[in-house]
Amino acid sequence: MSPSVPTDAPREGPVLVVDFGAQYAQLIARRVREAHVYSEIVSHTATAADLAARRPAGIILSGGPKSVNETPAPSIDPDVYDLGIPILGICYGAQLLTQQLGGEVARTGRGEYGRTPLTVTAASPIFSDWPEAAEVWMSHGDAITQVPEGFVATASCPDAPVAALHDPDRGIFGVQFHPEVVHTEHGRDLLERFLYDICHCPPSWTHTSIIEGQVAAVRAQVGDSPVLCALSGGVDSAVAAALVHKAIGEQLTCVYVDTGLMRANESEQVEVTFRRQFHIDLVHVKAADRFFEALAGVTEPETKRKIIGELFIRIFEEVARDLVVEKGHLEEDAPEGEPAGYLVQGTLYPDVIESGSGTAATIKSHHNVGGLPEDLAFDLVEPLRLLFKDEVRAVGEELGLPHEIVWRQPFPGPGLGVRIIGEVTPERAEILRAADAIVVEEVRKAGLYRELWQSFAVLPVVRTVGVMGDGRTYAYPVVIRAVTSDDAMTADWARLPYDLLERLSSRIINEVEGVNRVALDITSKPPGTIEWE
Ligand code: XMP
Repeated sequence: MSPSVPTDAPREGPVLVVDFGAQYAQLIARRVREAHVYSEIVSHTATAADLAARRPAGIILSGGPKSVNETPAPSIDPDVYDLGIPILGICYGAQLLTQQLGGEVARTGRGEYGRTPLTVTAASPIFSDWPEAAEVWMSHGDAITQVPEGFVATASCPDAPVAALHDPDRGIFGVQFHPEVVHTEHGRDLLERFLYDICHCPPSWTHTSIIEGQVAAVRAQVGDSPVLCALSGGVDSAVAAALVHKAIGEQLTCVYVDTGLMRANESEQVEVTFRRQFHIDLVHVKAADRFFEALAGVTEPETKRKIIGELFIRIFEEVARDLVVEKGHLEEDAPEGEPAGYLVQGTLYPDVIESGSGTAATIKSHHNVGGLPEDLAFDLVEPLRLLFKDEVRAVGEELGLPHEIVWRQPFPGPGLGVRIIGEVTPERAEILRAADAIVVEEVRKAGLYRELWQSFAVLPVVRTVGVMGDGRTYAYPVVIRAVTSDDAMTADWARLPYDLLERLSSRIINEVEGVNRVALDITSKPPGTIEWE
């Protein structure tokens, strides 16, 4: 392939972020989107032809946990450098392009980790907003010691003689530091210069444009067909439902199953928001008795989860069948290979990336709709599958969903069922719901609700002795679980202020009958999980 030169014409395609491992690519993709440019993550195993077929406006080679001098180390099809598409290599990406284009990356034995002063040594369009000296965030063991032919070194750091490099003819850039992390001063400026000035991307990816795009896509996908959505009370299904409703209005029916294991006020809020505010056709199934009956005598956590998941599906299926009968809604006898209807699923972009396929959606086993009845073959509608969680929240706000739903902390599908440690009974669910409501209220009042990944109460089914007034008590303890986390894969126990803990303890014991003790869980993940079951 003969090298071609990038042109100035505006490009319509996405900015592709090539993933070399760990979480680097996700953060870069988010930063690009924050600059209002649509980005997607692609595997480093994609060929140059695969990448070119996406007609990208630019390509960013991400950082990665390996060294380019290791074998094997992830690489990229070298024809990518001849596509005439602007390229920015970050950290590992910069070293990789240096090595692949004939420069040198050496193990200097002097790595740099953390904040480092950087000096811009030669003019470069990506540094046009930068002062001569700035602080950048470094995390590398190897260093670029010789730039490839056609490149110039444009910045240096104390332990990285080539902290940035640039081939002006081919529009290829590399930076040894991480512009995507907040500790790099002017990191955002650098990315914006690359996106706007080098890739000529217009800053047009906004929450409004996301909504418009998805509304059109949903309409095109479902046509006149009926669509079902299982609402859980959580943010993802709520935003997905509101978005699909905006697209197709009355074709959408939402199903909310009250399992008796929901948080306080959750069912009322779903009613008020979806039925009254959005005028969505909502089927509210009050099924608490069926769930408690099915859970009677069961203590083993996985068995509880299975029972809750299966009953949920059975109820959902009943509702779908009723709709067939009542409204002629879903075609039960749909021709072979055609869907009986559509089902909205709140799949997010990280799930799509993790599944590795980027195409076919697999329903997570722990999701509320844990597996679909085979004879009701739904096709999935996934209006959030290209979005990160923070984008979903922003879209939710733009669609007019209430703050309490948009900013709600994650809640497991089996609900309070996996926070009652032992047999689940209506009385215990009531106790836990009341204690949990106090935790949520006080954490909110303390201004910590958004900062914490989750904060909730757990009810272990044991009783302890206490004394209240003149009498001896023999009642349940409640455990406070509050964690900080970025993605729930790891978590740390939150250092809640003592005065908050004091209020929680006294309010729970005074206000929740059946509780005489409050304990605090100080276990991180690993070794603990966030939930107790
Ligand atoms: P663990 O307890 O495994 O939880 O550290 C990690 C995150 O997942 C949530 N979680 C669930 N979410 N259905 C869900 O939709 C489930 O069955 C389920 N179990 C755990 C948990 O609340 C935490 O955010």
